[in-house]
Amino acid sequence: MQTELNRYRLRVEAQLKKQFETVKKTNPAIPEILLEALAYATLNSGKRMRPALIYAVGEALKTPIEQLDSAACAIELIHSYSLVHDDLPAMDDDDLRRGLPTCHIQYDEATAILVGDAQQTLAFELLSEDPIVSDKHKLMLIQCLSQAAGVSGMIGGQMMDIQSEGQSIELAQLKTLHQMKTGALIKAALLMGAVQSPNYHSIKTPLSQLGEFIGLAFQVHDDILDIESDSQTLGKPQGSDLLADKSTYPKLMGLAEAKHYRDALISQAKAQLKNLQLESPFLVQLIEYIAKRNH
Ligand code: IPE
Ligand code: IPE
Ligand code: MG
Ligand code: MG
Ligand code: MG
Repeated sequence: MQTELNRYRLRVEAQLKKQFETVKKTNPAIPEILLEALAYATLNSGKRMRPALIYAVGEALKTPIEQLDSAACAIELIHSYSLVHDDLPAMDDDDLRRGLPTCHIQYDEATAILVGDAQQTLAFELLSEDPIVSDKHKLMLIQCLSQAAGVSGMIGGQMMDIQSEGQSIELAQLKTLHQMKTGALIKAALLMGAVQSPNYHSIKTPLSQLGEFIGLAFQVHDDILDIESDSQTLGKPQGSDLLADKSTYPKLMGLAEAKHYRDALISQAKAQLKNLQLESPFLVQLIEYIAKRNH
């Protein structure tokens, strides 16, 4: 599993690097510090799980890997932007990310805000410019990613997350919050991997369902790690949720119950993957890894 994850990680990182070099060449007037901070906040040691999901689903459906590169870069850019903004003092106010000082600590707040904006716009620029993906598929990819990243997905979820600090919310509300802030982008990764397959319309619904199980399990486990891991292993500050009195599954249902819930979601995801008949042992392992990862 690690070999495959590594292959996809190296691939998306090389693609991102290439894109940054192209951007730099197209306009020499871009402030050097902005390009440096953009690379700093993107090419650091992320797990690259969302690109891996795109590549794995795409390859299982026989889409040539070159046609998946722009989608893989775009989703990682959106995800990395969400982390840069998530760490800002006005949001989670964290100083460590992927084992390094957060973007606003390494540079400054204005630069971090602009880096996030740049990552977001670059994601859509890359998708729209891909010369080897058809216009029809590009439009579908852009719709899928913008919906997942926007007000009805990640941004809406982030707003709910902030609003629920120090509050006691219902479990149903927490589920919606998690599905929006984290689940939406993970679900989008699966769909973006599948968009170029002739079978897309027949598998869209079961694949979305799979994305919902995985996305929710991913954030429940992230909340568990915030309690059980340590900052060095995590590469981000342990106890951040506790400090901000966030609404999390461990807070609402207790740690043991949260683990049961996460494991049940992983089992449901594995059953759903079987139904989908996607021939991908890597996807099975990736789903299992979501609940086993230590960072
Ligand atoms: C962290 O995501 C933020 C959440 C949505 C839980 P990851 O755990 O995928 O972070 P990186 O990309 O590997 O740093
Ligand atoms: C992540 O939620 C959601 C995002 C959209 C970034 P968290 O705030 O729990 O992510 P970490 O723990 O800081 O990575
Ligand atoms: Mg947050
Ligand atoms: Mg955070
Ligand atoms: Mg967290």
